[in-house]
Amino acid sequence: MVILDGKKISNDIKNEITAEVQKMKDNGEKVPHLAAVLVGDDGASLTYVGSKVRACERIGFESTLVKMPHTTSEVELLQKIEELNQDDNIDGFIIQLPLPPQINTQKVIMAVDPKKDVDGFHPENFGKMALDMSTFIPATPFGILELLERYDVDTKGKHTVVIGRSHIVGRPMSILMSRKGWPGNSTVTLTHSNTKNIAQITTQADIIISALGVPNFLKAEMVKDDAVIIDVGITRVPDESHPKGYVIRGDVDFDNVSKKASYITPVPGGVGPMTIAMLLKNTLLAREQQRAR
Ligand code: GUN
Repeated sequence: MVILDGKKISNDIKNEITAEVQKMKDNGEKVPHLAAVLVGDDGASLTYVGSKVRACERIGFESTLVKMPHTTSEVELLQKIEELNQDDNIDGFIIQLPLPPQINTQKVIMAVDPKKDVDGFHPENFGKMALDMSTFIPATPFGILELLERYDVDTKGKHTVVIGRSHIVGRPMSILMSRKGWPGNSTVTLTHSNTKNIAQITTQADIIISALGVPNFLKAEMVKDDAVIIDVGITRVPDESHPKGYVIRGDVDFDNVSKKASYITPVPGGVGPMTIAMLLKNTLLAREQQRAR
């Protein structure tokens, strides 16, 4: 069994990007600038956005954190997005999801300039992804592809079962794993909350990508020998013995599933750090594209 070490690979990627940034600096060029908008004070979102901004600083990007109160109206957020769209200093930006209920997420996603949409959530970019055109690939699926590639995991002709159909992970992942090329060329089954007999499907999978958010959902008896297991779950489970009062748990019963798996991602230290690395990669790409115009 091989652990797909997202911590190590994400560090490798960050070092590669740092070298690119250094070249830009040496040439007197503007370095990439990522902005992140956080509406409200959800603890998990704060942590994620904080990690994204800190990662920017570490690799030499410029970063801006825009914090807006949870009472922010849709109009106010759309105005902020327009400001960021127009700001030539900002190469890419993200609106951290989920948003408070008074704000229509679809309208927000549509308002982001596709050229600065480093999340890859805008329909123009999502459509390009589905059509095999060059674009921003959403960071978590992009990170999973990168892990499969760097560990040389064979995906061609394999049966990939994706659990969860979210717009951020499951849906794009199902598209990417079925694309021509590598990693891809899989036969994909996309399962979700209405899927019947899910264990019957997962036991036939060569590759399982679980993005459900239910701790310990995937048990050893749901997995065949030598399967590749990608755990996207990052649920906070209350735990008073821990200083933070919670621990992070994945979707996979790691202790037992890892005994059967050929490759498996740990939580934490698997997919999570890859998401941040790929967001940085998309921001570098956005800068290069702005420069080329
Ligand atoms: N919320 C959870 N994951 C993500 C992500 O990748 N991007 C944004 N913007 N919000 C998220």
